[in-house]
Amino acid sequence: MSDPRPVGVFDSGVGGVSVLREIRSLLPGEDLLYVADSGHAPYGEKSADFIIARSRAIAGHLLEQGAKALVIACNTATAAAATELRAQWPDLPIIGMEPAVKPAAAATRSGVVGVLATVGTLHSAQFAALLDHFGRGVKVVTRPGVGLVECVERGELDSPATRDLLAHHLEPLLSAGADVVVLGCTHYVFLRRLVEDIVGPDVRVIDTGAAVAQQLRRRLGSLLSDATTGAARFWASGDNAVVSRTIGMLWRADMPVEVSPLHV
Ligand code: DGL
Repeated sequence: MSDPRPVGVFDSGVGGVSVLREIRSLLPGEDLLYVADSGHAPYGEKSADFIIARSRAIAGHLLEQGAKALVIACNTATAAAATELRAQWPDLPIIGMEPAVKPAAAATRSGVVGVLATVGTLHSAQFAALLDHFGRGVKVVTRPGVGLVECVERGELDSPATRDLLAHHLEPLLSAGADVVVLGCTHYVFLRRLVEDIVGPDVRVIDTGAAVAQQLRRRLGSLLSDATTGAARFWASGDNAVVSRTIGMLWRADMPVEVSPLHV
């Protein structure tokens, strides 16, 4: 059995394209729909109620477009809204994501793990539960990466200003002795090269994009498509010219990307 309907993916902005790329490479036959809510980014400093309302509206749009499953390609929106979305659409596979504390705790040799994520994620009950389950026996040092989402939204992945801000946020993690750094926000994955450069070869940098793609494959089961190539369609709120340019850069430099305005 095979299901040709698309998979819907969304984020507060362009960061979830890092997850979309993992999905594309693991499941090349799936048609993909992506919503970047860039007009309302960053979510990290917004209230949970605001994020729930946006997530509901975006999920509704993706379902109208025929999505057979939803991927919340955003740690912040997962923490704030996954429970509400699952309650509203109990039969829909909804895959969320959370910072990779579990693999980081298994990988650390120094016993100190650094987590870079948004304020919303770090202050959430879900993150507290994650630390409770998997953070025991290691020291977890957290840092809100204030300002980094905006750098990625503008497509500034390796400017001196982005590098300085990133170094400023990584410094407390490194001086606490972290030898594993978790990128707990999908936007930060596009800064991985800079992060690796700043932390040096003795510090591991991990994220959860590939694990989310694998989880999607498991959850789809008989809903997987048997097509050999899939298409990708994009919608965004905010300044369409800026978002189109950034998504064009982050998705596939060799392909023109058309981003439709999001009307929810
Ligand atoms: N990309 C999102 C995440 O993974 C949130 C970024 C934001 O603050 O909007 O948490």
